[in-house]
Amino acid sequence: MKTLHDIAKYLFISNLPKLNSNPDIKGIQIDSRKVKPGDLFICISGYTVDGHDYIDQAINNGAVAVMAEKELTRHDLPILYVKDTNRALSFLANYFYDFPTNNLHLIGITGTNGKTSTTYLLDEIFKYNRKKTALIGTIQMKIDDESYPISNTTPEPSFLQASFRKMVDQEVDHCMMEVSSHALELGRVNGCDFDIAVFTNLSQDHLDFHKTMDDYLRAKMRLFYQLGNKYDDKYPKYAIINRDDAHYQYFDQATSQRVLTYGIDHEADFMAKNIKLTASGTQFTLQTRTEQIEIKTSLIGKFNVYNMLAAIATAYVSNVPLTDIKEALSQSSGVQGRFEAVKGDHDFEVIIDFAHTPDSLANVLSTIRSFAKGDIYLVVGSGGDRDRSKRPLMAAMGDKYADYTILTSDNPRSEDPLAIIAEMEKGMKTDRYLVEVDRKKAIDQAINFAKKDDIVLIAGKGHEKIQIIRGKTYPFDDYQVAKEAIQKKEHSNE
Ligand SMILES: Nc1ncnc2c1ncn2[C@@H]1O[C@H](COP(=O)(O)OP(=O)(O)OP(=O)(O)O)[C@@H](O)[C@H]1O
Ligand SMILES: [Mg+2]
Repeated sequence: MKTLHDIAKYLFISNLPKLNSNPDIKGIQIDSRKVKPGDLFICISGYTVDGHDYIDQAINNGAVAVMAEKELTRHDLPILYVKDTNRALSFLANYFYDFPTNNLHLIGITGTNGKTSTTYLLDEIFKYNRKKTALIGTIQMKIDDESYPISNTTPEPSFLQASFRKMVDQEVDHCMMEVSSHALELGRVNGCDFDIAVFTNLSQDHLDFHKTMDDYLRAKMRLFYQLGNKYDDKYPKYAIINRDDAHYQYFDQATSQRVLTYGIDHEADFMAKNIKLTASGTQFTLQTRTEQIEIKTSLIGKFNVYNMLAAIATAYVSNVPLTDIKEALSQSSGVQGRFEAVKGDHDFEVIIDFAHTPDSLANVLSTIRSFAKGDIYLVVGSGGDRDRSKRPLMAAMGDKYADYTILTSDNPRSEDPLAIIAEMEKGMKTDRYLVEVDRKKAIDQAINFAKKDDIVLIAGKGHEKIQIIRGKTYPFDDYQVAKEAIQKKEHSNE
C-alpha cells in the first residue's frame, strides 16, 4: 500500500500541499464515476471532458486526494499539483502497481491492420503449448479465459497497469497486447517494459487524429524505441517486422534490439513459400533460417498468411516448438468478425469482416475475387467523426473489386449518415451501386440479390454489437442481421 506522501515523493512533487494528513491511497482513478473510497482522483484534460470539472463527484464517491494540473478552488483535501497530469499518470500507474510489466512477458503488436487477428492466433498457439495467456485488444481484455470489457483498443494507464498487476499475480506467462497509434501518441503505454514488438503493416487510417502519414508512422515507431537499450537474459528482446511492408526500414532502425523479419516477397527470417489459397483454407511452406515445415489452416486470404507469419515468429522466439505452432494453426477457426462466414446451408456465401480501411477492404475483396465463382456483393459504410479522407477510397474499392456495392451506414456517430454516404459516392466511377442508409435494409437487400455461388461481403463492423447514429447507441450485430435475412429469404423461397 502506498501513502500520499510516497506518491508525492516518487513524482518529485516539491510544491507539496501542507499535508496534515497522509492517507493511504487505495486506488488511482481518472473517471470520477468510478472513484471508490480511499482513491486518488487524477484530473485529466481530455478531448471532450475535463476531469477538473468533476472533482465534486470524485470527492462524493470517496476520493481522499486529488492530482491536478490546473488551480483548484477546493481546499478541503490534499491536492498534488503537477505540470502535466496525463504524463504523471503513466509514471504513477507504473509505480502504484509496482512496475508489473518488469515481471511479465509482454508482446506489443502495432500496425494498421491485423493486430487483433495476430493476438488471437498467438493466444491459440500459446494455449496449445500449455501456457497461461492474457490478451488486450479491440474485442476485449482476457486474462486466462476470463473476459473483461474495455472501451479502447489500448486502455488508459491506470486500468492498464492494474490489469498487468492482476496478470502477474495470476502467473500469466505471455500477454499479447494491441498497441494502437493513438495509445502510443497519448503515452498510454509509457513505462511498459515490452519484450517483443511486432509491426504488421502501415496504410492509411486515423488521419483525423495523426494529421499526416508521417505523424502516424512516427507514433507507431515509438513502440520500437520503447524496447529499450538493455540486453536481457531472462526475456531477450525482439523486434518482429513485416519485411514486405514499404516502411520496414523505419522500424528496423528504431530499435537497438534484435530484429527478425517475416515476409512472402522479400528474403526474411520467417518466410511463407508455395502458398495455396482456397475458399476453404490456406496452405504454405514455412521456411525459417534452419527449418522448414508445412502449415495448413482454415484461415483464408493472403493477409492471414502475414498474420500467421507474425504469430509464428513471435511464438518461435518465445520458445514454442514449430511442431506445436503447426498443430495450433491447423486447429484455428479464426477470429470473430474477421472473415467469418455465416453458417447455414444456403447456396451462396455471406462473409462478415471488420475491414474498415481502404487497404484492408482491398485485401479482403481481392481474396474473395481470387476464388469467387459467382458475383460479389459488398455492403459497406464509413464511420462518422473519423478520418474523412478514406470515405471515397473505401467506396472505390467496391467499384474496383465487387460486382455490386450497397453504400450504407457504419457508425455515423454525430454526423448526418447521408452526408457521409455522399462523400463515399465521390469515389464511385461506375453506377454499379445503390445507396441504402439503413444498414439492416442494406444487408437484407444484398442477401436478396445473392444467387447460387455469389458472395456477399458485409464489411466494417465485424464483431461489433452496436451502431451509433446521431449520438445514440443502438444494438446491431451484422452476423445476426445477416442470419435472419438468410432465414427470411429461404422462407419466402419455400
Ligand atoms: N495483415 C493484414 N493486412 C491487411 N489487412 C488485414 C490484415 N489482417 C486483417 N486484415 C483486414 O483488416 C481487418 C481488421 O483486422 P484486425 O481486427 O485483425 O486488425 P486491427 O489491426 O486489430 O484493427 P483495429 O485497428 O481496428 O483494431 C480484418 O477484418 C481484415 O479485413
Ligand atoms: Mg484491433
